[in-house]
Amino acid sequence: MFIMMVRTTYHVEAETKPLDVVAKEIAAEQSTGTWTNVPAEREVHEKVGARVVSAENNTVVIDFPEEIFEPTNIPQILSVVAGNLYGLGGLKALRLEDVDFDPLVKYYKGPVFGIKEVRKYLGVYDRPLVGTIIKPKVGLSPKRTAEVAEQAALGGLDLIKDDETLTDQAFCPLEERLTAVMDKLDKVKKVVGKPCLYAVNVTTGADKIVERAERAKELGANMIMVDILTAGFSAIQAINEANIDLPIHVHRTMHGALTRGPFGISMPVISKLTRMVGGTNLHIGTYSGKMEHNVCDIDRSRDILRQPWDNFKPMFPAVSGGIYPQLLKPNLDCYGIDCILQAGGGIHGHPEGTVAGAKAMFQAVEAWKENVPLEQYAKTHHELAVALKKWGPSQ
Ligand code: 3PG
Repeated sequence: MFIMMVRTTYHVEAETKPLDVVAKEIAAEQSTGTWTNVPAEREVHEKVGARVVSAENNTVVIDFPEEIFEPTNIPQILSVVAGNLYGLGGLKALRLEDVDFDPLVKYYKGPVFGIKEVRKYLGVYDRPLVGTIIKPKVGLSPKRTAEVAEQAALGGLDLIKDDETLTDQAFCPLEERLTAVMDKLDKVKKVVGKPCLYAVNVTTGADKIVERAERAKELGANMIMVDILTAGFSAIQAINEANIDLPIHVHRTMHGALTRGPFGISMPVISKLTRMVGGTNLHIGTYSGKMEHNVCDIDRSRDILRQPWDNFKPMFPAVSGGIYPQLLKPNLDCYGIDCILQAGGGIHGHPEGTVAGAKAMFQAVEAWKENVPLEQYAKTHHELAVALKKWGPSQ
C-alpha cells in the first residue's frame, strides 16, 4: 500500500551521541516508540511509525505517515512534528526548519482574501501597499485612536492596524474603537477617493474569538487582525471556517521565542501554517529595520506566502518593525511591490505629524520606483526632506 508522508527537516546538534542515533530517538519519540521496546509497537509501526530519511551535517529528515495526523487538527499536528522532541536530553539545538504539508493541504481552504482581492478592494495595483500601526500602541482612548487613524488615512495610507497588545482593554474598548475609527475612515474616503483598511485586533481566547470577529464584521470592520502565535493557528482556522468573509491581518508576536534560539520552529514553517489556515497578510520581518532578522528565513517566508501552492491564494508579506522612509529601498529591493510597508514610529514620529509622515513614505516608494536616490528626490519633496533630516541619510 502507498503511504503518503509528511516530510520534516530539523537542524539538530547533539551533545555526544551520533546524529543517526539521535534521529532515530526523535522519530521514535514523535511516533510509535519510547525509551525502551514495547511489544505492541510492531503492530502499529508500519502504519503510523516515523521513518528517518537521512541524518547528516546536523540536518535530520524524518517522514511521518499521513495516518498519524488528524488532518484538520493543528494542535495535534504540531504535537507530532514539534512536540516532545524539544525536551529530549542530550541535545544542544533542535529547530524545525521545514515541513512538507502537501499531503494535508486538501483539508485547508487557505486565504479567502489574498493579494489580488485586497488590491481590488483598494484599487491599488502598481505599488506596494503602505500602512501604519496606531502609536502609541496602547493607552489611547477610542476617540484619540480614531483621530490618529483619520490623519493616517488623510495621508493616503492603505492600511491602519492596531498593535499586537491592543485588544479590548478598559481604556479603549474594541467595539467603541472600531466604530469610531470606521466612522472617520468612511468620511476620509470621500475626501481622498479611496478606502483604507483598518485591521482591528480581535485576538482573545478560543472560546470568544469567532464571536468577536463576527461582532467586528457586524460593526462594519473591513479587516480583522489576529496575533497568531499567542492565539493559536486554530484561532484563524476557526474564523476562516465560520465564513466571516473579512481579510485577516496576522501578527507574529512571540515568534522570537520560537524562531531565535537554538530550540524552536522556523518562520517559514509558521508562514506555511498561516497560509493554510487563511491569513491575508503576515509579518515576516524586515531586511532592514529594528528587529533581529535572518535573511534566509525572510526569503523563504516571502516565497511561501506568495508563490503558487495548491489552490491557496497568495498572501501579502507585512514588512514591519522599525521602518521609515530611509529603509524602504533595502526592503523593496528584496520584497518587490507585493508587500505591505508598515511604519508606526516612522510615520507618527515625523516632525510635521502623521499626514506628513505618510506622505514621506509614499515619496520614498516613488523614489524607489523611479530609481532615484532619496536625497535627490527630497529636493522637490518636502515631507521626505524633513524625514531625512530627522532620521539621517538613506541606507
Ligand atoms: C509592529 O507591529 O510591527 C510594530 O508595532 C512596528 O512598530 P514601529 O514601526 O514603530 O517599529
